[in-house]
Amino acid sequence: MPRKTLTVEVKGLTKVYSGGIRAVNGVDFAVAEGEIFGMLGPNGAGKSTIITMLTTLSSITGGTALVAGEDVAAHPDRVRRAIGYVSQDLAVDDNLTGWENLFLQAKFYGLTNEQIRQRLNEVLTMVNLKDRAHDLVETLL
Ligand SMILES: Nc1ncnc2c1ncn2[C@@H]1O[C@H](COP(=O)(O)OP(=O)(O)OP(=O)(O)O)[C@@H](O)[C@H]1O
Ligand SMILES: [Mg+2]
Repeated sequence: MPRKTLTVEVKGLTKVYSGGIRAVNGVDFAVAEGEIFGMLGPNGAGKSTIITMLTTLSSITGGTALVAGEDVAAHPDRVRRAIGYVSQDLAVDDNLTGWENLFLQAKFYGLTNEQIRQRLNEVLTMVNLKDRAHDLVETLL
């Protein structure tokens, strides 16, 4: 069988923070295209540090990381263009509607208003949330 394309490929990934804390120590893993990948570990294991490195928000101290085929350390700009990142907190503004939240994110990605309208209709239909799109997020909980 042909080998699946790897979306994330991490080898020997290491992070030593400036204070000297070795938060990530030679981690290897790979994620194939279309795969849902979970990372489990106790508090302080280094999960968030790995994510901040892979999303270009924090520098890599050692090893290599390829995301969407791009070397994260060498081409962070290319990686940023290829990825979307929804963080654990602050991903959604409760004081806006679902539509407004999505509109804002799409604007950050440089879509035109017409492209945004089309994509949001497509996605909201896909997840069956079109009838709630204009409700404040705080009312959805
Ligand atoms: N900005 C920072 N500067 C220095 N040390 C840090 C920094 N961020 C995290 N650390 C340290 O790096 C280690 C790994 O932390 P990290 O937040 O990556 O772990 P985690 O697996 O995400 O933990 P949790 O399950 O609590 O979210 C911890 O010892 C933490 O105190
Ligand atoms: Mg964390």
